[in-house]
Amino acid sequence: MHRGKGMKFVGDSRVPAVKKLNIPKDYSEYPGKTEAFWPNFLLKEWMVGAVFLIGFLCLTIAHVPPLEKMADPSAAGYIPLPDWYFLFLYQLLKYTYASGPYNAIGSMVIPGLAFGALLLAPFIDRGPERKPTKRPLATGFMLLGIAGVFYLTWSSVVNHDWEASKKQGAIVFGPEINKEDTGYKLYESQGCIGCHGGSLEGASGPKLTEQGLTPEDIAKIAKEGKGAMPPNVFKGTDEELKQLSEFIGSLQKKE
Ligand code: HEC
Repeated sequence: MHRGKGMKFVGDSRVPAVKKLNIPKDYSEYPGKTEAFWPNFLLKEWMVGAVFLIGFLCLTIAHVPPLEKMADPSAAGYIPLPDWYFLFLYQLLKYTYASGPYNAIGSMVIPGLAFGALLLAPFIDRGPERKPTKRPLATGFMLLGIAGVFYLTWSSVVNHDWEASKKQGAIVFGPEINKEDTGYKLYESQGCIGCHGGSLEGASGPKLTEQGLTPEDIAKIAKEGKGAMPPNVFKGTDEELKQLSEFIGSLQKKE
């Protein structure tokens, strides 16, 4: 009797019928390259990536990023500017066909098409050629993209008022505020602090230091209000009003 006769064999998908040897495929139909993607090519890519990563790390240590003053959500006059690598997108939003009512075009449609095409490139361009000259469409679009990014970045740099931006972000040290001063105590107890901030730096009301305000102005405004500031905020005595306005008045000198 033969072994196994009368027995049923059940196939196991994990066992290949023909054992495949782990040899790289024949790449001769892909001119110029005879290298396996994994691990040969990927390892090279990774090494180049590591060199750049370490390079950037050294750069950030050697060249400390410039800081601006602390962010202030109530500063409506501050115009934020993205870092250089996003300037091209920023510039795009300045064109009338890509801003205002067409904001979606500048912020979603154009960048979406460009990055979407980049993402889909390996699936769209499936030819075996690797020479740029033999892939005119892919090369053409890539060059167009690079030219576009360069042009927009350049345009953003030359059209930006760098002086104004330096000024608005500059770290300025305001006058030192003595929080033990009777004037400050009044500033606090009379409720000015709620709208003008704990360091008179401004909140819903404007900043009260370095405005060139005289004690007379301040006393008048504290009693009568001004614009959006309601009248009769100050409810103390004349003596206290004098102390308060002289205290705020002493912080008006521009450094
Ligand atoms: C309810 C919020 C509020 C309170 C409380 C308040 N202010 Fe004001 N204050 C404002 C606003 C808003 C302005 C800006 C008015 C304008 O110019 O339209 C202002 C303006 C001022 C100005 C003029 C600033 C400038 O540069 O022209 C002074 C001075 C001033 N406040 C002092 C005081 C003092 C002193 C107190 C406390 C007694 C006080 N404020 C309490 C909201 C307030």
